[in-house]
Amino acid sequence: TSENRTYRIGFSQCTGADSWRRTMQENMYRELSFDPKVAFIMKDANGNTARQIEQIQQLIDQHVDVLIVTPNEAKPITPILEKAYQQGIPVIILDRRTNSEQYTSYVGASNYDVGYTAGTYANNLLNGQGNVVEISERPGSSADIDRHRGFIGALNRHPGIHLVSKLTGNWDKQSFESQLTGLLKNRPGIQLIFAQNDRTALKAYTICKKLGREKTLKIIGVDGLSGANEGIDLVERGILTATVLYPTGGEEAIQTAMAILQKQPFKRENQLQITLIDSSNVRIMKLQNEKVIAQQKDIERRQKKIVEQQAISENQATIIYAVSIT
Ligand code: FRU
Repeated sequence: TSENRTYRIGFSQCTGADSWRRTMQENMYRELSFDPKVAFIMKDANGNTARQIEQIQQLIDQHVDVLIVTPNEAKPITPILEKAYQQGIPVIILDRRTNSEQYTSYVGASNYDVGYTAGTYANNLLNGQGNVVEISERPGSSADIDRHRGFIGALNRHPGIHLVSKLTGNWDKQSFESQLTGLLKNRPGIQLIFAQNDRTALKAYTICKKLGREKTLKIIGVDGLSGANEGIDLVERGILTATVLYPTGGEEAIQTAMAILQKQPFKRENQLQITLIDSSNVRIMKLQNEKVIAQQKDIERRQKKIVEQQAISENQATIIYAVSIT
């Protein structure tokens, strides 16, 4: 019967090589552990769009019951997901978007709002006057496109703030070092850097430091993870002026998948909230996070115990049976 069958959730992750996405996956696993009747098949495309298209095709061929995808780039990933959707596979788009309306559900925060929030905050910090540099996410991803649109959208309302340049934040290769160094040396009056993620923001900081400019330049990042050298820590230590917390949506994606599989109601648009973190609220964010992490550890401990107890009672059953036949 349908109650007893194992559901198969396929997950195509654009890349698993950074802490934000590892956090997303941990959030997914935790949510999955509440439901043992699920097989979770994850494929990591390692930041390669062609590979991701192949892997999505493999998941389609494996007849997954639902497909969760974080599209590496919006445009090239669109056709394969339209195809899956048209074949009747429920498609959940997570974090980055495609260019199509053909999906079952979307889970994520607005990347336009991320950029807009950063732009508005930059204007406030600089009192309406100054030059800024932006460093991008993965080019061609909806995160990059929408964060930039949002940033420009805010700056358009504040004509005293000028975007001098948008550099490519190819964080694997950190290729923007010479460009940023050149800009900071040759263009006067650059006062702020908006880096589209905290990893890039930290790299930008080290470049500023090499030039002796780290005290005067303000840096805004995105992601706001907890942990050493992550966004919250960097804001607390004054390395970043601010970061925009961008939630991973891992657990909401699994909850949505389960609702779809069990034919329960779900939302087509699951808009997650972003939060600006700066010196005014970083302590409370840190404390809250520590509390959540402690609670999560507690849940994991309990789940482990339940499994252990099940194992013990199964063993005991065997022993009793063994005794009874002798
Ligand atoms: C991680 C990441 C995050 C960012 C997100 C956007 O791979 O680059 O830093 O917020 O992807 O899709």
